[in-house]
Amino acid sequence: MASLKTKFCGIEFENPIIVPAGVHGRSGEVIKEVSQSGVAGICTKTIVAQPARDVLPCFASVSGGMVNSVFGSDRTAEYWFTEGLKRAKEGDSLVLANLAGFFPEQAAELAVKSEQAGADMIILPTHCPHMGEILMAMFPGMEMPEPKLTDVEPMKRSVQLIKESVKVPVVVKLSGTFSHITRQWALGVKEAGADGISCSDAVGPALSIDVRTGEPMLGGPRGVGGLTGPAIMPITLRMVLEIAMTVDLPIIGVGGISSAEDVVRYIMAGATLAGVCTAGHIGGIDRYSRIIEDLHKLLDELGADSPDELRGLTLKRIADRKEKGKQAVTDPIPPEVEEDLCIACGKCEQVCAYGSAQVSDIVSINHDTCIGCGLCVSVCPTRTLSQEYYL
Ligand SMILES: Cc1cc2nc3c(=O)[nH]c(=O)nc-3n(C[C@H](O)[C@H](O)[C@H](O)COP(=O)(O)O)c2cc1C
Repeated sequence: MASLKTKFCGIEFENPIIVPAGVHGRSGEVIKEVSQSGVAGICTKTIVAQPARDVLPCFASVSGGMVNSVFGSDRTAEYWFTEGLKRAKEGDSLVLANLAGFFPEQAAELAVKSEQAGADMIILPTHCPHMGEILMAMFPGMEMPEPKLTDVEPMKRSVQLIKESVKVPVVVKLSGTFSHITRQWALGVKEAGADGISCSDAVGPALSIDVRTGEPMLGGPRGVGGLTGPAIMPITLRMVLEIAMTVDLPIIGVGGISSAEDVVRYIMAGATLAGVCTAGHIGGIDRYSRIIEDLHKLLDELGADSPDELRGLTLKRIADRKEKGKQAVTDPIPPEVEEDLCIACGKCEQVCAYGSAQVSDIVSINHDTCIGCGLCVSVCPTRTLSQEYYL
């Protein structure tokens, strides 16, 4: 069986699965309990100088994930330093202190105390997409402009200061709202001396509406929050690929992971670790164990002895397209069918808008009508169908 062990920032992880900041990092006790699932690392909910008081309701289920408007930990920083982190360390997982200061010196103070209390790593979130909403709720009646938090300079100052103050690795967690400026952030964070990048936080701001009342589903002045779960993965996966193409820092891929396949996608895009948040929030902690178990099977199926063997495969494929002078496909090439694998589930037939995929005992593709769009390949659960991407 494949070994799942991997190293991130010089620290050995039992497997590539971690739990990023969320409900399962809300206290030392919960972290200890969640560690029984077998995840290699668990992040605390963001430790802040003033405990957060969330506006309610703060979670709503939406198609493809959820929106939330929570901020940092509702526990005091003192709780984390005297009790929370120590209790968390009693579990079997590494403990990553996710923390944020309102200014760099405050972040550095929280980082030093987290390290003293036993944290194995510091994670610095940049901001959540509903930060403006949180500030407006905290200062009612104030005309609060949307904060301009896309500037990398304050984070660079925090990283520099924290790196001077702690020995454990310091990782910056990018925001999903930075999708258009991922490269600038990756370069800035590297220049400041960060040891790694986590990508990403929620995407948004995002909104859901109760059709019975017209009310936004979340509380707060405008009822907006951050989108998480499978819906964001195509965006955050691309961000990870861009980071891997830009800087040689180790990456934690986060966003929409709900299966071992998703974990492998992030690793192929260049990540070393993979963070699972919403899937565990909604599916319970057994979901983490199942992903780890499935990852063993998937690596065996792919013929890989460890996750490291697959890291960056997509970067290589992209480089090949360029270096080997390959031509993009423009004339229709119908998918290849590996007949032995077909279970006649009918999914390909269902999604084919051209009536080209037809399933009786097994799938057959009508070469006269197929335009080679690839949708059937992407829904096939048994990998019966495959496609040419470049000539
Ligand atoms: C309920 C909830 C609370 C979260 N709290 C935090 C937090 O305190 N700090 C942080 O950096 N990210 C926080 N996040 C973001 C997650 O760590 C993660 O980056 C994001 O949810 C994307 O991953 P996912 O799609 O697997 O959920 C939170 C997410 C959720 C759903």
